[in-house]
Amino acid sequence: MSDDLYREQILEHYKNPHHFGELPDADITQEGDNPLCGDVVTLYLKLDDGRLGDVRFRGRGCAISQASASMLTDLIVGKPVQELKTFPTKDLLEELGIQISPARMKCATLSVNTLRVALNGDAGEEE
Ligand code: FES
Repeated sequence: MSDDLYREQILEHYKNPHHFGELPDADITQEGDNPLCGDVVTLYLKLDDGRLGDVRFRGRGCAISQASASMLTDLIVGKPVQELKTFPTKDLLEELGIQISPARMKCATLSVNTLRVALNGDAGEEE
């Protein structure tokens, strides 16, 4: 895909985010923020027999942070929790598909860092 198509895809996720909302019966609710700008992503995770049975997110912030959260939910739903504890940041960056400048890296990784905190208690090495 060309950069333009990736940008379009990011905007589409931003405007119509997947798995947007809350899970009232979530097993884990985790908020993460980008201290540089105050943008927020909250993940709601429902576990089901060792897997991520369902996921929702709420957030506010820039297109990259919110679109990457939406993309992340597509990538992680149904996956084994054990696997998700070390979900590679690069998988999400690949899904975003565009070159992320160092200044925007916090935007792009907000959701995946929040996932790591949710499942491990901290964001680990890849923060
Ligand atoms: Fe705040 Fe991107 S500018 S997360």
